[in-house]
Amino acid sequence: MGILDKHVVLEKNATLLLVGSLLVVTVGGIVEIAPLFYLENTIEDVEGMRPYSPLELEGRNIYIREGCYVCHSQMIRPMRDEVERYGHYSLAAESQYDHPFQWGSKRTGPDLARVGGRYSDEWHVDHLKDPQSVVPESVMPKYAFLADRLIEPTYIEDLMKANQIVGVPYTDEQMENAEADWLAQADPDSDYDGLLARYPKAQVRNFDGAPGVSEMDALIAYMQMLGTLVDFSTFTPDASR
Ligand code: HEC
Repeated sequence: MGILDKHVVLEKNATLLLVGSLLVVTVGGIVEIAPLFYLENTIEDVEGMRPYSPLELEGRNIYIREGCYVCHSQMIRPMRDEVERYGHYSLAAESQYDHPFQWGSKRTGPDLARVGGRYSDEWHVDHLKDPQSVVPESVMPKYAFLADRLIEPTYIEDLMKANQIVGVPYTDEQMENAEADWLAQADPDSDYDGLLARYPKAQVRNFDGAPGVSEMDALIAYMQMLGTLVDFSTFTPDASR
């Protein structure tokens, strides 16, 4: 009896075929799922990634509040057209401190995962105040009011605490300096050495060019750091995982 003849037995007996199929699916399922229980972490650690600085986190909150994610994704897919337009494909680690993540599912506007450093702060101010003044055909709404809304770091520690609860590893030192770091990042005349030690690559500027810290400052601080933490000239994927 050849192997095909034996298979006929299975094909002609519905119950046996059902049992056989279940067995195959079970083995396949175990092989795929079981290793996940033994992995410490499914996200590869990548050099350069750090939690958001207080001002960046504030800006990120404004980004979410204003629904920017409705039109913008933050995930560059590993496909040639995307990589050529936006840069290196997004790594899992790059959204490891994002709660909630901002991958998005709709691109009315471009992907923003690596928009940091692509434009000047002035460009962002002009663009957010009146997108059509920079890109005439743009359908992006105006956000000029962000520049008029001056903010204080009153709740930044609470915001960081909330992130800590869902797993962002802010240290005691980072928590203690939350307000000071928030203020320092928007003031180039401040003493920001501590901020830079706690949040490497944090950019310190008066982002909107106007006195006081506005929602515009925080949002641009966030825009300008997106995709800038990992150095892709030295990054090599860890093939051992
Ligand atoms: C209704 C959809 C829509 C919303 C909401 C929206 N945008 Fe846009 N955005 C666009 C479109 C379309 C473009 C492309 C044209 C342009 O540059 O204005 C764009 C472009 C941009 C760019 C330039 C990206 C690049 O690589 O050129 C940035 C930065 C940006 N948006 C930030 C934001 C932020 C921050 C918010 C929330 C405060 C926001 N957008 C909300 C539609 C939107």
